[in-house]
This record gives sequence, structure tokens and C-alpha cells, in this order.
Amino acid sequence: MKLWGGRFSAGTDKSVDDFHSSIRFDSRMYRQDIQGSMAHAEMLGKCGIIPEADAKLICMTLEDILKDIENGQVQFLVDAEDIHMNIEKLLIERIGDTGKRLHTGRSRNDQIALDIRMYLKDEIADVKRMLSELLETILEISENNLDTIMPGYTHLQRAQPITLAHHLMAYFQMFRRDVGRLDDCCRRMDVMPLGSGALAGTTYPLDREFVARKLGFSGITENSLDGVSDRDFAIELASCLSIIMMHLSRFCEELIIWSSAEFSFVEMDDAFSTGSSIMPQKKNPDVAELVRGKTGRVYGSLLTLLTVMKALPLAYNKDMQEDKEAVFDAVDTVKGCLPVFVKMLSTMKIKKENMYRAAQGGFTNATDIADYLVRKGIPFRSAHEIIGKMVLYCINSNKAINQLTMEEFKEFSPKIEADVYTEISLEKCVSGRSLPGGPAAESVRAAIASGRSFLKQI
Ligand code: ARG
Repeated sequence: MKLWGGRFSAGTDKSVDDFHSSIRFDSRMYRQDIQGSMAHAEMLGKCGIIPEADAKLICMTLEDILKDIENGQVQFLVDAEDIHMNIEKLLIERIGDTGKRLHTGRSRNDQIALDIRMYLKDEIADVKRMLSELLETILEISENNLDTIMPGYTHLQRAQPITLAHHLMAYFQMFRRDVGRLDDCCRRMDVMPLGSGALAGTTYPLDREFVARKLGFSGITENSLDGVSDRDFAIELASCLSIIMMHLSRFCEELIIWSSAEFSFVEMDDAFSTGSSIMPQKKNPDVAELVRGKTGRVYGSLLTLLTVMKALPLAYNKDMQEDKEAVFDAVDTVKGCLPVFVKMLSTMKIKKENMYRAAQGGFTNATDIADYLVRKGIPFRSAHEIIGKMVLYCINSNKAINQLTMEEFKEFSPKIEADVYTEISLEKCVSGRSLPGGPAAESVRAAIASGRSFLKQI
């Protein structure tokens, strides 16, 4: 007999039991469900809504059930539908009528709204922990590569020299914003919905603030309809997770390109690469590719959630049960990607000489020689034109700008003097950009220091 079976004269069809049962994917919230029930029972006892002794017995039994679940002694049943009814059923089997008092003033609609918030709050804390490990790794590599010159790119064409530290610290900023987004998302998720009932609250004088405090929420929901029908927090989280994946995917894309023989800026450790079953020479950056590929799944979850919610009338509708697999998969995917990505990054070999050599080609100092002419009194637009011609000449004579002789330089502008060679060296191009946010070692050191203090307060 179902816990809601009173109104029914016939049982559910077996196919319907299977179809609408969510225990397969909501059993992972067993701890949150039990903690929520314990807080609710304690409050019912404290407020005199059920006898205090009953509340105590309910709580003790729920604790036993929790232990049994954790020891693998409980088998959840598909026909008990979901995690809420499975646990309530176990409780009633163990303590009979007393157990039947637990659901006073509560509905599964506010119960699930509670459980999923609690569950996701914990998951956010995990993801933040993993992000901080990634941020730490980025800081460490950057600290060791403040002088590792490489080309910076636009349109994937060599543009201006930068350092690896500066390049990596760009990713630091992205993941730092991700932490901020998660905090922000958590803040809005952090309201306790119990007391919303099925949709219209309840006539029992529940102490909602007590339950909220007990469960570590900073507030309570302010509208019972919204309390049970809001899934913005799941959508927001999936959106934060999608952005994290987008950042990881961009990073992976660069590492994949950098691992190619054509770039050869980095080499993944053997432990984070795979071979080919047919081509003996291959060493593939599969980890990075798989992270890039999994980005699609997380975006998919976001779209699932948005679509599930898009036309739901207030308040609860069973459609909303479809929120769980999507948001859980998004969380699992991100939690699966981050630690392996961090290990791959921290074991990766950096080929500094190749980076430097690449920066020497591609006329990455062209802007700097134009700026040199500006310092000698030539307007920037004219300088741009002169250097454009100089680059064309270099391409045709297969030379880098700093390989030109003084006589050749003078052909382009009499203002160019012997100091040009030091003024347009890669080192000077980088160190000259010492404004805040720039690639010069001192500027990057300041960004690293700011990053360090951010990490301390996560
Ligand atoms: N398993 C349900 C869900 O995940 C719990 C709420 C069920 N409420 C209901 N009225 N059927 O959404």
C-alpha cells in the first residue's frame, strides 16, 4: 500500500511505478532528507504539535536509519517512489504510529525543495574547494614563469610578446570569477522552504526560523508558492557550472594546440596522455579533449532545466522531478573534470625555449618599434605605416626586425638609432608593459599577490 493510497481503490500499474519513481537518482539525497526530517520533527515536538517524546523517538530512529543506509544495509524500493517516501516507510516500519506523525505540516513538495537546496549547497562547497586547488596550481606555475616569454595571440596569430605567467593568470581571473558566481548562487539558494507545505503553507504553528537555523540556512522563503516551485537556484548553478566548463574548455583547447608538434610549447606527462591503437608514435592529450567534450553535457543540463521550467504553472508540478538528473549530472561532471585537470596541469612540462623562439618570430615586437618611433617624435599613424613597410621588407628578405642592419633601419626612418636593438628586444617589450594588469614581471607579481589574498579568504 502506498503512503498516499487512502483515496485509491486500485494499485498503480507496475509500468507507472517504474516510470515515475525517482529513487534511482534521488537516493543520493538520503542524508539531507534525514537531517531535514530530524529538524522538522524536533520543531514539531518543541512547538507542541506532536508529543516531545514522539519527536525524540522519530529523531533517534532516523539516526539509526541513516547509519543503516551508510552501512549499506538498506535497499530502497522502486515502488516506494522516491527518497522521501522510502525513508518515511522505513521509519513507520520501525516505530509504527509514532513514525506516522513525522509528516505533520509538511508536504513532499517542500521536502524536496529543502533536500535539493541542502544537497546543492554542499556540492557548491565541494566545487569551490576544487576550484581553489586549480587557482593555487595556476599561481604556482605562474610564480615560476614570470620571465618565460611567449607570444601572445589574437586571431591565433602571433601578436605581442607576453609571459606564460601573464597568460595563465588570465585563467586565474576566470576561475576567480567562477568562485564569486558560486558564492552568489549559494546566497540565493540559502533559504529554507519547509513550511510552504504543498503550496499554501499550513495551519500548524511551525517555527520555520528554528528549522532554518538548525539546518544552517540563513533565512526562510517568503512565499509558499515560490518556496515549492522555484528551481532558479538549480538553473543558476547549472549556469555557473556551464561557465566553469567553458573556461576549462578554452584552457584545454590551448593546451591541446600547445601540445602539437607545430607549437610544442608544452608536453603532457605520460600519466595524463594516451596512445593510439594503430599509430605507434602518437601521444594524445585525451584528458584535455575529454574535458572540452564534457562541456557539452553541462550546457545540455542547463538547457534541460530551463526547458523543464519554461511553462510550468504555479506551484509544484511533477515535471520538476526532471530537475535532478540534469543538475546532478552537471555537478558530477564538473567535479569529475576539475581534479584531473589540476593534476594534468601541474605535471605538464613547459618548453620555455620553444615559447621564446615562437615569440622571436611573427614580428611580435612590431608595435614596440612603432612606439619607439613615437618616442622619437613621429605620430603613431605614420609610425604604423613605416613599420608596416619594414615588416613587409623583413618578410621578403626572411629576417626578423632586430636582424636588420643599421643601414637597413635608416632606409625606413633616419630617426632610428643604435638603441633600437635593446628597445625592441622581447625582454624590453614585456618589461616595458609594467602598467597594472600588464605582462611585466612586476605587474604579474602584483596580480599574483592579489590572487593569493583572494585564495586565503575563499
Ligand atoms: N520525487 C518528487 C520530485 O522530485 C518529490 C515531490 C513529489 N511531490 C508530488 N506531489 N508528487 O519532485
